[in-house]
Amino acid sequence: MSTHIGAKPEDIADTVLLPGDPLRAKWAAETFLKDAVCINEVRGMLGFTGTWNGHRVTIQGSGMGMPSLSIYANELIRDYDAKTLIRIGSCGAMQTHVGVRDVVIAMTASSVGNPSRAMLREIHYAPHADYGLLRAAHDAAVARGTKTHVGGIYSSDTFYDERPDLHEQMVRHGILAVEMEAAELYTLAARHGRRALAVLTVSDHLVTGEDLPAIERERSFGDMVEIALQAAFA
Ligand code: ADE
Repeated sequence: MSTHIGAKPEDIADTVLLPGDPLRAKWAAETFLKDAVCINEVRGMLGFTGTWNGHRVTIQGSGMGMPSLSIYANELIRDYDAKTLIRIGSCGAMQTHVGVRDVVIAMTASSVGNPSRAMLREIHYAPHADYGLLRAAHDAAVARGTKTHVGGIYSSDTFYDERPDLHEQMVRHGILAVEMEAAELYTLAARHGRRALAVLTVSDHLVTGEDLPAIERERSFGDMVEIALQAAFA
């Protein structure tokens, strides 16, 4: 048991999927895993371990934002020796060619600040995905016929961001979408020699204002989970 995860060391698989929402962890475990058992309930941040195509997988909620993700990723790596960590979650599209329901696979994750920032001091470290996972996820997405974009995303620390031209600069620099966790996940994985990736579903559009209705979210989120699982065990 670690500080925020109430599981025994053997309860957590080498491969961990990390949705922000603990109830999405429950839904994904019930939908995609065989023999899934709940391995964490501390603070309601549900985690489940089961099997997918014979491979052991844990799906653990990470909470919203990099400070919360950092707690779970640190403990999964340090206390449970997780080897492959894949964020699955939603994002807001920032480019007109990226549509709601599309999948975004994050090659890099820019940020204004993240929990590792103070430690890296003057270094402008470029948080990046594991290439093998990235390539496998893209292959899986293409094989499924899912409309998918691979490129840079922005991990924000402020959902209701009122900084005047920040989003505009991100758009100008080709950032595909905004979410709130990947930059810290990629940085932690690199520091500890683990594999990390973020596979995201576009739930809303910052340019067009479009929003994905709840019923449709589930269907497109399913694609994202399958892509993440296929990439992990490719
Ligand atoms: N996740 C999904 N949509 C988002 C948005 N618009 N901003 C930040 N994170 C998000």
